[in-house]
Amino acid sequence: MKQFISAHDVSDIPELITNALNYKANPRRDELLGKHKRIGCLFLNPSMRTRLSTQVAAQQLGMEIVIFNVGNEGWALEFEDGAIMNGTTSEHVKDAAPIMGNYFDILAVRSFPKLEDRDVDYSDHIIKQFIKYAGVPVISLESATLHPLQSLADLITIKESIIEQKITDRKPKIVLTWAPHVKALPQCVANSFAQWVNAWGEADFVIAHPEGYHLEESYTAGATITHNQEEALTNADFIYVKNWSSYSDYGKVLCNDNAWMLNNKKLQLTNNAKVMHCLPVRRNVELSDEILDGPNSLVTKLASNRVWAAQSVIAEMLKSRR
Ligand code: CP
Repeated sequence: MKQFISAHDVSDIPELITNALNYKANPRRDELLGKHKRIGCLFLNPSMRTRLSTQVAAQQLGMEIVIFNVGNEGWALEFEDGAIMNGTTSEHVKDAAPIMGNYFDILAVRSFPKLEDRDVDYSDHIIKQFIKYAGVPVISLESATLHPLQSLADLITIKESIIEQKITDRKPKIVLTWAPHVKALPQCVANSFAQWVNAWGEADFVIAHPEGYHLEESYTAGATITHNQEEALTNADFIYVKNWSSYSDYGKVLCNDNAWMLNNKKLQLTNNAKVMHCLPVRRNVELSDEILDGPNSLVTKLASNRVWAAQSVIAEMLKSRR
């Protein structure tokens, strides 16, 4: 695996999920795999779970890890080839990335969209420039369009719950539902969840959102899409709750209707559904206390499973470079 920025970089998703669950059962099973190897994690934007889980995962594989909050502490990077750098940027990615490629065996990058220009954001230019110039494998720690380590952890958590619940006679019904938020958030987590659930292919997949919130079709094709949340939730086994800003009216907040917030009454429509959210979450805006603190919440387990997602991906990259 030379890059991990999308579900399409993975040849066998079920195998990657199995590898992750094997690491969960025995975290140190490959503790020498990354000996004398170093991973550099570049954060152009904030993080808690992605940063810490990647750090723990790399350490459990015996790697050294360097974290660089380049967004706050580094030179302002320029990403446009041919740019006349007489503005606010100080160093071109063409100069910086090869140096990082010499320091590290794997480079991991987090870079959020600006939510100003859809074509710019959806070109995923920043992570692609790192891939172009670093000369080593690159892992996305969330890009302008996708959050693949999150989505892998989502599927690991769903698979684990399917095994625990002994759901063997049918495909589980998975619902991705939009939720309100006070800020305009990227579509990355929702795009990515849709892409991975579709690529996995082992679920009956429904997406519910208000009008004006459809996601990019290349990610959602294959899912049933509805504006009726209650209809979507009926008989659901898993509910993934997430806010995103509008894709069509790009980056705008078109709806703040708190009727879209999940609560215990809506949960009664479901097949005792387990509830997921990637975190951080705005309590009682995006998701109610009663759900987050209730028995159906998988949010803490999901965040904990981020370690096994990162460990299985890093291990795959290390193995393919031997
Ligand atoms: N879910 C997630 O990516 O969390 P962080 O932003 O804290 O890394």
